Amino acid sequence: MKTILVTGGAGFIGSHLVQALVRKYKDYKILNLDKLTYAGNLQNLSSVEQEGNYDFVKADIVNLSEIQAVFDKYDINGVIHLAAESHVDRSITDPLAFIHTNVVGTANLLLCALRKWQSDNDGFDLFYHVSTDEVYGSLGDTGFFVESTPYDPRSPYSASKASSDHIVRAYQHTYGFPVVISNCSNNYGPLQFPEKLIPLMINNIRHQKTLPVYGDGTNVRDWLWVEDHVSAIDTIYHRGKHGETYNIGGNNEMQNIELVQLLCDVMDEELGREQGSSRKLISFVKDRPGHDKRYAIDSSKIQDELGWSPSLTPEEGFKKTVKWYLENQDWLDNVTSGAYQGYYESMYQDA
Ligand code: NAD
Ligand code: TYD
Repeated sequence: MKTILVTGGAGFIGSHLVQALVRKYKDYKILNLDKLTYAGNLQNLSSVEQEGNYDFVKADIVNLSEIQAVFDKYDINGVIHLAAESHVDRSITDPLAFIHTNVVGTANLLLCALRKWQSDNDGFDLFYHVSTDEVYGSLGDTGFFVESTPYDPRSPYSASKASSDHIVRAYQHTYGFPVVISNCSNNYGPLQFPEKLIPLMINNIRHQKTLPVYGDGTNVRDWLWVEDHVSAIDTIYHRGKHGETYNIGGNNEMQNIELVQLLCDVMDEELGREQGSSRKLISFVKDRPGHDKRYAIDSSKIQDELGWSPSLTPEEGFKKTVKWYLENQDWLDNVTSGAYQGYYESMYQDA
């Protein structure tokens, strides 16, 4: 049985990925490595934690000896690396945390994986780095990011992800180490920590709290249903060409204000509130420093070469997302109160 190490598997995208891989690949062990920061919620994985091909290890990628110990203990055949500090606003107030986790943490993982590959060439298949389209910088009103777009990161978050992408590529170039990178646009869907735009707005609309839209709300993001990102990662891990980069996007550009208004209208409908009432909660607030204007992805490479495409229309995806958060208000309450952080102690440490 091969073992794939997924880092950051208790986070938003990681928990969708781990659930999908555990269910789909019974002949793989999926080893989830996560530090369980504020963004890591093991309860997201309760549906698979009893499966025989799932295992969890609490470890910090910034700590080289902890990571080496995991590689010494398990026969790891591949890595899908998602663990990161992921929120741009936090990177503005605490940039060093992003350098430590995203740059040093990635370098630590790479070193351990390289040692494994050098000692057992056939036993290690691939190091897959899950990255972001934000490494390419900011677009004007037209154009798209392609795989050859020069890197131009502008926030501490995107600069730390760009650095780690470069280190991953350097390993491929220097050692011939098998790597692949994907750069994806903004994800949305269930289980996203409510500091990010969509779950934050849904939670605030639910409580009839102010909806803070940065600047004039005309910044544009390309939104992708999280399970479509997961299917892209699965596709690239198994069929992507080693040494390559793939852009992943939803072909779904929206201005922030359009998106927030849409969420207000869908929520009004779902909650039986008068149409237009939630829009009154919108408040334009001070802009994010260095706020990137527009991201838009050209994902024709993965579509043409690997046959991947998004499965949901934005209308379906946003409705599904709103419904999930409304049907899982306990999840939101548990996360906003911080109660979720006791789950690891109760389930794992006492065992
Ligand atoms: P997230 O913040 O929800 O989850 C990150 C996970 O990493 C958490 O479980 C956290 O506990 C873990 N982690 C953080 N620091 C760690 C450390 N030092 N050691 C071990 N684990 C640690 O993030 P997400 O939104 O699921 O993003 C996952 C990955 O995908 C990130 O690398 C991010 O850059 C990338 N990405 C995200 C998006 C998006 O829209 N969310 C888009 C493109 C790429
Ligand atoms: P976010 O979800 O933080 O993702 P990213 O910054 O990685 O794209 O934000 C998405 C967009 O929404 C971004 O342009 C910033 C904006 N935004 C707001 O207007 N208000 C908010 O409260 C948040 C969290 C984000």
